[in-house]
Amino acid sequence: MEKSKKIILTGDRPTGRLHVGHYVGSLKRRVELQNSGEFDQIFIMIADAQALTDNADNPEKVRQNIIEVALDYLSCGLDPAKSTLFIQSQIPELTELTFYYMNLVTVSRLQRNPTVKNEIKLRNFEASIPVGFFAYPISQASDITAFKATTVPVGEDQLPMIEQTREIVRSFNHIYGEVLVEPDVLLPDNKACLRLPGTDGKAKMSKSLNNCIYLSDTQEEVKKKIMSMFTDPNHIRVEDPGCVEGNPVFIYLDAFCRDEHFKTHWPEYQNLDELKAHYTRGGLGDVKVKRFLNQVLQEELEPIRARRKAYEQNIPEVYRILKEGSICAQKAAAATLAEVKAAMKINYFDDEELIQAQAQKFRQQP
Ligand code: TRP
Repeated sequence: MEKSKKIILTGDRPTGRLHVGHYVGSLKRRVELQNSGEFDQIFIMIADAQALTDNADNPEKVRQNIIEVALDYLSCGLDPAKSTLFIQSQIPELTELTFYYMNLVTVSRLQRNPTVKNEIKLRNFEASIPVGFFAYPISQASDITAFKATTVPVGEDQLPMIEQTREIVRSFNHIYGEVLVEPDVLLPDNKACLRLPGTDGKAKMSKSLNNCIYLSDTQEEVKKKIMSMFTDPNHIRVEDPGCVEGNPVFIYLDAFCRDEHFKTHWPEYQNLDELKAHYTRGGLGDVKVKRFLNQVLQEELEPIRARRKAYEQNIPEVYRILKEGSICAQKAAAATLAEVKAAMKINYFDDEELIQAQAQKFRQQP
């Protein structure tokens, strides 16, 4: 049975280069899942159509960032031989599904979606929300269900989208018959990875706040950003006791550091707990901790940078990968759309039985 297949779908809006928050929140996990061999199919989508829902006036930004995101994917280790990398707008079936799903969702349900609510505020859309933006959770349900995804690895902010998708699936299957698959969300298991703060300690990493460490930053850029990171504002002299909770340097260490890092870079401590205890007691300066974080992060980012360099020398190949992936993704989405249309009774020309039955009905009429 189709249902027992394990299928991943996830993606990102191409509105900027991806940063270390994307990495620990989702990208790293995707690569692990890809290499686990546990999944029958993996679809990774560059969500350009979704990006246009709030960037309709800036198509060039979206166009430029397609290649940035693709390079970020490939450099993190997503492998086109194992994962299908594709571009959302190239799959018209997704738009078609969205139009049908719109009938299953109410305006008030969309208004209650906490992620959309928050984004409307952030973009000052309160007075005039573009319909496409307002409805993007429905389009996201199409992205997921078109591939019969069972598993959607995303960050915490996407939870309301998956919940909305599950409701649409239940509603569709209830009305039209069991066609769609209810997906499960897969969140990062490390709490620090759920929402990595910006280098300024603000909850959200954002390009406009200039508080992100990008996967494509050079070694020097990363070092500079780490050395100027916010820490505990009350930790003024080295002897002062410091606070690790809410301290971005320690949150980053929570996300990136493993015991092995201490063996190679800082053998005075066995593990992060010991380091935190020292910082909390007092007598440990921020600069030392930042230097250590720099070593840990550089070690993680170095292979990513190296792979990026290689792909940057072969951009036409990257576009070829996306094109092949889009062709493959379209086939999968078309198969689901055919089932959806049959279930919704809008497959008139494929249904010989219907044509015969209608013929019969009208023949009998005098
Ligand atoms: N909303 C996601 C983001 O902002 C991108 C996205 C679009 C997505 N469709 C999806 C993620 C389907 C997971 C599944 O990055």
